[in-house]
Amino acid sequence: MPKIYPSILAANFITLGTEIDKVLKNADGIHLDIMDGVFVPNISFGFPIIESIRKYTDAYLDAHLMIVEPDRYLEKFAMYVNSITVHYETVIHLHRTVTWIKKLGCDAGVSLNPHTPIFMLEEILPFLDKVLIMSVNPGFTGQQFIESTFEKVKKLRQLANKINPKLDIMVDGGVNKDNIGKLALAGATTFIIGASIFHKEDPYVEIKELKEAAKS
Ligand code: DX5
Ligand code: ZN
Repeated sequence: MPKIYPSILAANFITLGTEIDKVLKNADGIHLDIMDGVFVPNISFGFPIIESIRKYTDAYLDAHLMIVEPDRYLEKFAMYVNSITVHYETVIHLHRTVTWIKKLGCDAGVSLNPHTPIFMLEEILPFLDKVLIMSVNPGFTGQQFIESTFEKVKKLRQLANKINPKLDIMVDGGVNKDNIGKLALAGATTFIIGASIFHKEDPYVEIKELKEAAKS
């Protein structure tokens, strides 16, 4: 069953509670994009918002850290979220970081920028719950999907079948009804979607249709 985590980066923050209510009826969790203005050319939101969301809902919170030196904040994130994904490009001692995330009681993920090859994950893959494949250059909602992502997902699924068959393969950026089916076929299991949910008339219906499209 394909999972969808709406990215609230594309939501209206004035009415965040209502926005979350709209998607949670059909979604499997909420994706939190944390940007520091250093690793990516944008600043999103931080702990006051994350804490408010945690108090508001029991939903699975999936944090995507687009920040340098993520180790400095792991303990604090673990107080509020269920899963922490760090970027391969920001961490020097990735095994230590991943082990620490697990010790803190969270699912652990690693994200790859579009230019970072799958083979960089070979040694760390057995320790991971998920890999987040960026299908845009991270930083903004509403960008154009990069077509080479299909091949990348296929390669990762092949590798994971050998060394970590339960791996959750997530795709993030520009995912919509036109590409979600092909991504699922390539081996992706979770889809992070911002604009194609929150910028639509009825997010509830959109998620339902996206899930149908993922199955077809
Ligand atoms: C981009 C973020 C994504 C983004 C996805 O840096 O990681 O989660 O918000 O949004 P859409 O679906 O609008 O591309
Ligand atoms: Zn993201």
